[in-house]
Amino acid sequence: MSLSRGEFSSRLGFVLAASGSAVGLGNIWGFPTQAASHGGAAFLMMYVVMAFCLAYPVLMAELIIGRHAKANSVAAMSVISNNSFSRKLGASIGFLGIVTSSLILCFYSIVAGWMISYLFASLANILGLNDIAMWFTKLGVVGNALFVLIFLMFTAIIVSSGVKQGIEKWSARLMPLLLIILLMLIGYVLTLDGAVDGLKAYFLPDFKQVLDPNLMVKAMGQAFFSLSLAVGTMLIYGSYINKKENLVVLGCAVTLVDITIAVMAGLLILPAMYVAQHNGIVIYDEAGLLIAQDKLIFTVLPALFDTMGVVGAFASLAFFLLMTIAALTSSISMLEVPVAYAVETYTVNRNYIVWLIASIIAVLALIVVCNFKLLFGFVVTLTTGYSQPLLGLALCIFTGWMWHRNKILLEISQGYPNVEHSLFWKVWPFYIRYVCPAAIIMVFGQQIFN
Ligand code: PHE
Repeated sequence: MSLSRGEFSSRLGFVLAASGSAVGLGNIWGFPTQAASHGGAAFLMMYVVMAFCLAYPVLMAELIIGRHAKANSVAAMSVISNNSFSRKLGASIGFLGIVTSSLILCFYSIVAGWMISYLFASLANILGLNDIAMWFTKLGVVGNALFVLIFLMFTAIIVSSGVKQGIEKWSARLMPLLLIILLMLIGYVLTLDGAVDGLKAYFLPDFKQVLDPNLMVKAMGQAFFSLSLAVGTMLIYGSYINKKENLVVLGCAVTLVDITIAVMAGLLILPAMYVAQHNGIVIYDEAGLLIAQDKLIFTVLPALFDTMGVVGAFASLAFFLLMTIAALTSSISMLEVPVAYAVETYTVNRNYIVWLIASIIAVLALIVVCNFKLLFGFVVTLTTGYSQPLLGLALCIFTGWMWHRNKILLEISQGYPNVEHSLFWKVWPFYIRYVCPAAIIMVFGQQIFN
C-alpha cells in the first residue's frame, strides 16, 4: 500500500501543510474572541499551557500512529491494537474521527462561505459598487448556499490533486501569504488611535480568571480544535511523513506555528476592537461583555473598516482574504481524512472519490444552512464539544495503554536515533498514559456537570 500512497516532499512541506491545517478560523477568529471574553492574557496563558501540555502530546500520538501505519485512520488504529476486540474498537474510533472531520467541514464551509462573501463585498466596495457590496453582506439562504458550494469546490480541487501536488503545493503558497497579510494588518492597526487600549486588554491578565474552570474548558477545547486533533487530520498527515524525519521536532514546530499565529491574531483583533471603540463603534454588549463571535467579525470589524474610508476598504479586503486562506488550508486537511480512507479501503480513483465526498458534505452543509437555527450550533457542539475531547481521550488510551512502548520507541527512533535518552521520551509516555487522559476527563467532566 505504501508505494502508491502520497508523501510530503520535504520537512518544510509537511510543516506548512500541518500548520495550514492547524492555523484556521480557530486561530484568527476563535482564539482572539475567546481571549477577549476570558480575561485577555489569562486566557492566553492557559491556552499556551493547554497547547503544550495537553494538545502537543496528543498531536505526537497522532503523528506517530499515522507514520507507523502509513495508512488512513481506520486502518492505522487497528494496526496499533493488539487483539481482535481492540482492533474493532480502534477501527470504530478511527471511523468516528472520519465522521467528525466531515461534520466539522460541514459547519466550517458555511463560515468560510461568509468570509468569501465578505471578501467579494470588500472588492465591490473598492470598485464603488455599493449596492452589490450590500447584497454580499446580507445573503439569504440561497446566497449562503452558493458560497458554501464555492468554498467546497476550491477545497475539492486542491485535494483532488493529491498530497504533493495539491495539499503541499497549495499550503506552501498560501501559508506565507497568510503570514504576510497578517503582519501587514497588525502593523497597520497598531498605528491607529485606541490600539494601545486593545494591547492592554490583551496583555494585562485578569488573574482572577486564570484558574476559572470554565476558562480551562474553553482553553482546552480551543487547543484541541486549533491543532486539528483527534479527528484523524494529523494522523493522516503523519502518514505522509518520510521515515527519516524527526517527529518530535516536526510536532513541536507545528505547535509553535499554531500558537504564534493565534497570539498574532490577538494582536490584530483586540487592538482593532478598541480602535473601533475609539471611532465610536459599540464594542460591549448589554451585559457589559466585549462583543465576540460572529457579531465581532461581521458587525464590529466591518463597521470599523467603514469608518476608515478607502484604506478601510483595502483593509477589509485583506482581512477577509486572510480568513479565506486560513479556512482553505484547514478544510483541505478535513477533506483528506475521509478521502484517504475511501481511496485505501475501496481502491477507487482519487479524483472521483474527492468529488463524491465533497458533494455529500455539501448536501449536509446545505441542510444545515436551511435549518440554521436548529442545526448549526448543534453540529458545532457535537463535534468540538463532545466528539473531539472524547476521541482525544480514546487516542491517548490507545497509544498509552494498548500500543507496546517499544514499538512506539522504534517508530520515533527511525528519524531520531537518540530519542530514548531525550527529555521527550522521559516525559511523553507518562503523559500520554496518565496525565492527558486524566486532564481530558477532568476538563470534559467539568463541561458536562456545568
Ligand atoms: N485547526 C483548524 C482551525 O483552527 C480547525 C480544524 C479542526 C482543522 C479539525 C482540521 C480538523 O481552524
